[in-house]
Amino acid sequence: MWVYLELARMSTLSRLSNLSTDVSQNGCIKTVDSSSNVVELEDFDFSKLSDRPQNLNLERQRSFDERSLTEMPMGLSPHPPSRAENFNRAFDNLDSVFSPVKRSGYTTPLSQYGFGMSCEPNPMIAEAWENLRRSLVYFRGQPVGTIAAFDNSDEKLNYDQVFVRDFVPSALAFLMNGEPEIVKNFILKTLRLQSWEKKIDRFQLGEGVMPASFKVLHDPARNTETLIADFGESAIGRVAPVDSGFWWIILLRAYTKSTGDTSLAERPECQRGMRLILSLCLSEGFDTFPTLLCADGCCMIDRRMGVYGYPIEIQTLFFMALRCAMVLLKHDAQGKEFLERIVKRLHALSYHMRSYFWLDMKQLNDIYRFKTEEYSHTAVNKFNVMPDSLPEWIFDFMPMLGGYFIGNVGPSKMDFRWFCLGNCIAILSSLATHEQATAIMDLIESRWEELVGDMPLKVCYPAIESHEWRIVTGCDPKNTRWSYHNGGSWPVLLWLLTAACIKTGRPQIARRAIELVESRLSKDGWPEYYDGKHGRYIGKQARKYQTWSIAGYLVAKMMIEDPSHLGMIALEEDKHLKQPVLKRSASWTT
Ligand code: GLC
Repeated sequence: MWVYLELARMSTLSRLSNLSTDVSQNGCIKTVDSSSNVVELEDFDFSKLSDRPQNLNLERQRSFDERSLTEMPMGLSPHPPSRAENFNRAFDNLDSVFSPVKRSGYTTPLSQYGFGMSCEPNPMIAEAWENLRRSLVYFRGQPVGTIAAFDNSDEKLNYDQVFVRDFVPSALAFLMNGEPEIVKNFILKTLRLQSWEKKIDRFQLGEGVMPASFKVLHDPARNTETLIADFGESAIGRVAPVDSGFWWIILLRAYTKSTGDTSLAERPECQRGMRLILSLCLSEGFDTFPTLLCADGCCMIDRRMGVYGYPIEIQTLFFMALRCAMVLLKHDAQGKEFLERIVKRLHALSYHMRSYFWLDMKQLNDIYRFKTEEYSHTAVNKFNVMPDSLPEWIFDFMPMLGGYFIGNVGPSKMDFRWFCLGNCIAILSSLATHEQATAIMDLIESRWEELVGDMPLKVCYPAIESHEWRIVTGCDPKNTRWSYHNGGSWPVLLWLLTAACIKTGRPQIARRAIELVESRLSKDGWPEYYDGKHGRYIGKQARKYQTWSIAGYLVAKMMIEDPSHLGMIALEEDKHLKQPVLKRSASWTT
């Protein structure tokens, strides 16, 4: 089922005569017609959306992220000052000197989302901006997002839609370039989509679900524009976009942080939207773990790839969204209730992830020697993982120095694959401790050939093949070994790597990766992904002019030039989440 949100742009009121109406909580008129398409008349003032950021209040901005667990209503005891580490120092400083309206030096003119270009010192950057602006999607004359790919050569499928996750690097590029309006429009537009009834066949989805993607349908005859959203009910495999809501909250914080405009997040409808997303993932159930149980393909990897259960990407986005919500939620009665639940969950989640998802040489060796079938609280091998399930490759892959968060942990299950997005978000959200963040970067350096090769960056490593591929993917011809989601290389991941490098004080790693991208990406037509063990070949079915490949490059370049941009997408370590992680030897082997 598609959900139609019809905006009567000019004079379509007459069409509404046979529709029933009701007034929604946030004041707009909703109408539902007999053919079950949902029609909506919006009453919000679109002229406001084009305002330049106003009252950019540096003071407010500086204090914006200062809320931490100490302020939360849990009565947590103050944590003693942490060890003197340089790790976050540079980042902390960057955080406070951040200037909200600064633009990045190699920008295009602020021609209201036009195509005009100024003289650019770097032709690849100029080309990227041009392509990014070409991908803009307008609704009622306002830019509301960017399409996934501007590629007319192939069957479009849904690549002509605005994907929530794909828009994140576009949004960051616009924010870094001092153009926050489109981000604000996107946030408000997707919020409206969230408020609609969502159904797959006869099953109603949770109220808080955010769409995977949406598109604008133009009807020149009627002079109307219609929004069509997909909440998973049209997606290939009917996969649910669990990540969309988390990205939405993360983006709301990025917007607030970068503009200093707290009024958007403070709007009742934004507060409500956040609470609805949080209700979905903080509800009580049968869970024995604080991680979020998911179906396969519910994130960037949106096809069956054995990423069901407790996939790392979702867990880290969940953690980051909770931390962002903590600074965005108001301390009113409803907000407070959520804040309490968030604090509890963050404590449990960080403990669980840092203890059980973390793998390094020591931990690997411990698992290798695990005993099984242990019962009771004293069990060392808590999840009953069989040492025989350790894959061969892991023994060579694991460097002496370094480590990472593995792909998945569940009953008798450890997915040892390395996933890029989850590990980068773990660093950016400070889910990874200082030591873990350093170790992740160490691993990337020592396994450069495998993870970066000729084109950054492996979405996951290694590929699954043969019998395992048949069982895990259901014989998916798009996800054959070293292609697409199965060990393919995705240029979009460059921005995440760059951000993680800056946060850990290792920008030289990002520079190496950026150089690789600059040697090929534009010449190859900005493909979506590359194939092969080293990412040497343009992906079998990769779209060209893939927007997030373009935006990812721009964001990486702007961050490396001006690292203070990092503040909008990274969170400092919250000292109060620094509970001791069990020492491997103590927790797992004694
Ligand atoms: C593919 C990717 C997904 C992305 C979409 C649009 O389906 O797997 O992550 O959002 O394309 O680019």
